[in-house]
Amino acid sequence: MKKIPTKQHCLRVKRLLQLDPEDSAIIYHRGGIQSMRDDTDVELDFRQESNFFYLTGVEEAGFHVVIDLQTETVHLIPPTIPDYEKLWKGPSDAPAVLLDRYDADTIVREADLPQLLCAIQPDIIFTLDITDTSALEGLLPKATLNVSALPVAIHEARLLKFPHEIQLIRRAVHMSSHAHVSLMQHARPRLYEWELEARFRWACARNGLKWQSYLPIVASGPRTATLHYTKNDQLIPDTRHTLILVDAGGEYRCYGSDVTRTFPASGVFSPEAKTVYNIVLKVQETILSRLKPGVLWSDMHWLGVRILTQELIRIGIFKKANVSDVLLLTRAFYFHGTGHSVGLDVHDVGGRSAGIVSVRGAPSFDISRPLEKDMILTVEPGLYFNDISLASWAKDERFNAYVDWDVVNRYRVTGGVRIEDTVRITEDGIENMTLVPKSVSDIEALMAKSRQ
Ligand code: GLY
Ligand code: MN
Ligand code: MN
Repeated sequence: MKKIPTKQHCLRVKRLLQLDPEDSAIIYHRGGIQSMRDDTDVELDFRQESNFFYLTGVEEAGFHVVIDLQTETVHLIPPTIPDYEKLWKGPSDAPAVLLDRYDADTIVREADLPQLLCAIQPDIIFTLDITDTSALEGLLPKATLNVSALPVAIHEARLLKFPHEIQLIRRAVHMSSHAHVSLMQHARPRLYEWELEARFRWACARNGLKWQSYLPIVASGPRTATLHYTKNDQLIPDTRHTLILVDAGGEYRCYGSDVTRTFPASGVFSPEAKTVYNIVLKVQETILSRLKPGVLWSDMHWLGVRILTQELIRIGIFKKANVSDVLLLTRAFYFHGTGHSVGLDVHDVGGRSAGIVSVRGAPSFDISRPLEKDMILTVEPGLYFNDISLASWAKDERFNAYVDWDVVNRYRVTGGVRIEDTVRITEDGIENMTLVPKSVSDIEALMAKSRQ
């Protein structure tokens, strides 16, 4: 497997730390450790802590890293594996193998960590507040431990992707796109939602994505209106209105993807479902056509809300209203952000203030600065008939003054629709990495083909 050039990540982080050239400083970080299932000797799934992966490319548990910022040397420290453990889990890799696999300059035994640190004698140790620093205890009494600067620098570094990171994410999104198509081809009423989840996971794994970026959401019927439904344990209803919403993305070498498609269980959209679907598609396509460097994410969110509002007036959900009268009431049907950064984490760090926002709270924006080339983002508008949201808004006088509940109930049978693509900002627009059909006719054609 090709080595990821993570030393470039370390050097970008160093630049962002804005050190005094006289400063003798190191970055110290310890990766995740293997957790066991309670009261057993059975391991739980292990996924590397993302900042550690960013600095080292190591997916295995128990490693440390020391980066000497003056000499720009990356020292990787593998865990000490006792012989009895090797008997069960196999031998550990030799230093030469590790140097071949990872972008480190030296491999240091855990037992030699004190010697390494005493040789460097740093004045400052940059680390994270999540880092287990017990291995440093008592070794560098004069050094200052700084936990505030490194997260800011790493998060900033991770926001704009290097070309090799873009390649890895592109692969994750392309392969996840194939998995979405495969799932759609197998979708039928009266399957359990988890059967489609299994199909998605299998299709990802078949194409090299062993892990998922997050728990797949496979929601059918009324559950499509629940944003992060992950139980996936119900039978898919057999009605002409039934939609299936799949929000799922595989992970490739810790780089993620985030894709949502909504489609009819029967293979054909009901007129109500088609109306709701096309509204969301119109919002998404309009936003996608506007993205480029310099654009403000908040402007894109409000553009989306404005179109949704116009459409809700057009189909009669809001009656006798101008867009400005009901713009803020649209929140009853659309109560999450329009997208977020994607990278080593599906809701990635850098440039954001919050994720999903409360049903009635003021919107906050995941990217609170102008877009730049090589940011990777999702665009994920939706329209939901969510019982909890609607019950809450039903107590609002202004909402009741404008809403036509008969029309709401006509569309409520569809549950909800979200359409989500993962895209990269280019010099003058976007690269849409997502390759899953999304027009009504393309989805129906794909599903018809698989039913012949
Ligand atoms: N998959 C979670 C999200 O779309 O934000
Ligand atoms: Mn998302
Ligand atoms: Mn998603």
